[in-house]
Amino acid sequence: MARLTQADWQNERDKMIKVCAGCHSKSFGETQLKMGDDMMRKADRLMAQAIDIVASLYKDKILEKPAEYAFAYPDFWHFMRTGGKSLEKMSHIDQVLFEMYMKHRMRTYQGFYHVNPDYAYWYGWAMMTKDLGEIQELDHILRKTHAPSGEKNREKK
Ligand code: HEC
Repeated sequence: MARLTQADWQNERDKMIKVCAGCHSKSFGETQLKMGDDMMRKADRLMAQAIDIVASLYKDKILEKPAEYAFAYPDFWHFMRTGGKSLEKMSHIDQVLFEMYMKHRMRTYQGFYHVNPDYAYWYGWAMMTKDLGEIQELDHILRKTHAPSGEKNREKK
């Protein structure tokens, strides 16, 4: 699935442009796919902002590193099982982040390259901006209400 070199990527891209060129002009196909690349660059910038926010919460020990996580950092291999195996330690902000990536970034991506701008925009991009807004708001609330994990008087606040 992943193209790890520019040459491999270009090879697949050229094949796809040839498919489009069966019905459209070559430059039309190229322009459409380039618009998809631009959209994904912007979508990944939203992702990076969101990941940075959640990563800082781990760094500042406001979110606790589940034992199963290799690092105190959002771990996408754990999908929706945020909080490791413990249901009590599930973190809502992590879940918003994972949904942003697994569902809404995926819809931006697949929607756009299937040439369905309405779907890519409303079900993908717009939902990603909503997720980022929620993550920013949750970050604000968590920082106001939580003492770093490990501090005894956490419950008293
Ligand atoms: C088998 C022929 C065929 C192939 C192959 C094809 N298209 Fe199309 N495409 C069409 C037809 C026909 C329309 C017009 C549909 C309509 O007007 O309702 C269209 C419409 C479009 C539109 C909408 C244009 C507009 O202004 O509304 C886009 C964008 C598009 N195609 C992109 C692509 C891309 C990108 C590829 C390659 C990945 C591709 N198409 C491959 C036949 C094809």
